[in-house]
Amino acid sequence: MNILLTGGCGYIGSHTAISLVNAGYDLILLDNFSNSETCVIDRIQKIAGKPIIFVEGDLRDSNLVSKTLKDNNIRGVIHFAGLKAVGESVKNPIDYFDNNVQCSISLLQAMIKNNIKKIVFSSSATVYGIPQYLPYDENHPTSAINPYGRTKLHIEEMLKDLANSDPEWTSIVLRYFNPVGAHKSGNLGEAPKGIPSNLMPYLVQVASGYLGALNIFGSDYGTRDGTGERDYIHVTDLAEGHVAALQFMFREQGWHAINLGTGKSTSVLELVHTFEKVTNKKIPLNLTSRRAGDLPAYFAKVSKAKNLLNWEAKLNLEDMCLSAWQSRKISIHE
Ligand code: WQD
Repeated sequence: MNILLTGGCGYIGSHTAISLVNAGYDLILLDNFSNSETCVIDRIQKIAGKPIIFVEGDLRDSNLVSKTLKDNNIRGVIHFAGLKAVGESVKNPIDYFDNNVQCSISLLQAMIKNNIKKIVFSSSATVYGIPQYLPYDENHPTSAINPYGRTKLHIEEMLKDLANSDPEWTSIVLRYFNPVGAHKSGNLGEAPKGIPSNLMPYLVQVASGYLGALNIFGSDYGTRDGTGERDYIHVTDLAEGHVAALQFMFREQGWHAINLGTGKSTSVLELVHTFEKVTNKKIPLNLTSRRAGDLPAYFAKVSKAKNLLNWEAKLNLEDMCLSAWQSRKISIHE
């Protein structure tokens, strides 16, 4: 069965591609390489052990998307493509609405034109905004507090309206918590361009000697040790969650939002200490002021994924840290 992955060469997309090939799907990956490298193509094919069709292009080229869907007899779409840096979205909000929302509209128009009504969408826990309670369950009110989160929320709502307009549509909205780590081979990983804004890739670069010290953004939160707490999930667990979501999508109809997390929270210091333990590296730290836009703590209620998808995260924080460290050679741009 042929599945289209938009943004398939990105961090989550490339790891999901491996899990989908292992589950027996045939893939077409579409990417404009705005936030990924073409060398990922070879890495995915080498790990998958089979050739995979790649299409270089932008989702805003609706004719290209429609041709790709038709020529490859696509049965369903997993939509990863989009920009995802919160701080960058605050500086360039229109770029985020153009890249994330406009691309999604163009994709959905092409899908409608080709009568393809099955989609898994890569959303984010940032749609929940300031916690009214924790852990976040899927009924928690949604109210994004930054342009990035608002683009994800707009797309979720478009998919909900689409499902309400046509009962043949199935939209599975996956709300990621904090994906970290890398494929066990060490040949795929998180390869942000420039200095990483996210914690784990920054940590890897400090441990590798590329960056001096880790700045801890805030040590005065009302958390276990004063540093920010998040629900970190291994990217391989996240990828397997997409396989389960795709199988659910083909069985069901309607719009379904599902959290993909571990259900556990980890503080920055707890993650640093785990990283030091598994890598035997000492991480120099600077305790600095809070980062604008950060929430003190959030983590997922994960019972819906277990009940609907029969999926739960299996890998632990040590697996996440060690796999991130073991993929450092591909995640640091010389
Ligand atoms: C984690 C914790 C920081 C860097 C991001 C995206 C979000 C989602 C998940 C896509 C926080 C602290 C970080 C550093 C630090 N992505 N930190 N020093 O902000 O929780 O979420 O990834 O859906 O959209 O925003 O992740 O890794 O940036 O921060 O102390 O150099 O680490 O304050 O407590 P975040 P993060």
